Amino acid sequence: MSSFSKVAEEAAHLAGKIILQYFGSNHKTWTKDTQSNLVTEVDLKAEKAIVSHIQQNFPGHSFLAEESWRDSLNSEHLWIIDPLDGTNNFANRIPHFCVSIAYAQKGEVLLGVIYNPVSLDLYVAEKGKGAFCNGEKIQVSPAKNLSESVIGTGFYYERGVVLENTLTALLKLFQNGIQGMRRFGSAALDLCFVAQGSFGAFFEYKLMPWDFSAGALIVEEAGGKVSDCLGRPLSLEKEAGVVAASPFLYAELMKTISPLYPGVKEK
Ligand code: IPD
Ligand code: CA
Ligand code: CA
Repeated sequence: MSSFSKVAEEAAHLAGKIILQYFGSNHKTWTKDTQSNLVTEVDLKAEKAIVSHIQQNFPGHSFLAEESWRDSLNSEHLWIIDPLDGTNNFANRIPHFCVSIAYAQKGEVLLGVIYNPVSLDLYVAEKGKGAFCNGEKIQVSPAKNLSESVIGTGFYYERGVVLENTLTALLKLFQNGIQGMRRFGSAALDLCFVAQGSFGAFFEYKLMPWDFSAGALIVEEAGGKVSDCLGRPLSLEKEAGVVAASPFLYAELMKTISPLYPGVKEK
């Protein structure tokens, strides 16, 4: 294990402890840009704990952290942090959320660590070294067709075309034949579910770099394929529609979801 991975895992555990301390008890909650996009004092406390731990170990490193850091994305050492992915679950006492930490050098993600403090599952991937859950190697689903697969998805906080097209895509997927669909409320854990083969595939029409950076590497290292909804590589620079799937299922999924991607005109 590299020293980066060790420090990221320690930071994830520290944040996980804080999150669990507050889970189910009183904490301040407010809204961000839209009524459904919540943030709590726990998101802030968890982020502070992660950043301080990394700073203690690696003074001078840079951060892109959901709540309060926007350093240069091209930094030699950049940490991308979602301190609490699944805030809506957390705030509504639904025990499904995680801490997501990625590390990148000059824009290339080299490490992903995702920790679920409820199940205690720790997902780790370093570039070129495979993906692991609690030390066991994980791999994407061997299913050959979407009809044998459960598909994960998510709804961004906007209620306009992103939501409408997600619902249309889901209807088409059901009509074409999928085993089932799940919306669990934590994109980072959804990506881990693709990596361990629980979901054959996942898509969400709008996610932010802190939602997908660690999870995308974990899926790739588990043998999966990840891209934006137009088939391009993900970048740290902007929001993206995200598709993650086993190589067998990727093309079949793209056929349905790519034409409905709200940003399709960018092509
Ligand atoms: C959200 C979760 C959710 C996804 C949203 C994300 P947050 O992150 O990952 O599953 O559907 O698009 O914004 O706000 O809980 O960190
Ligand atoms: Ca998130
Ligand atoms: Ca978050």
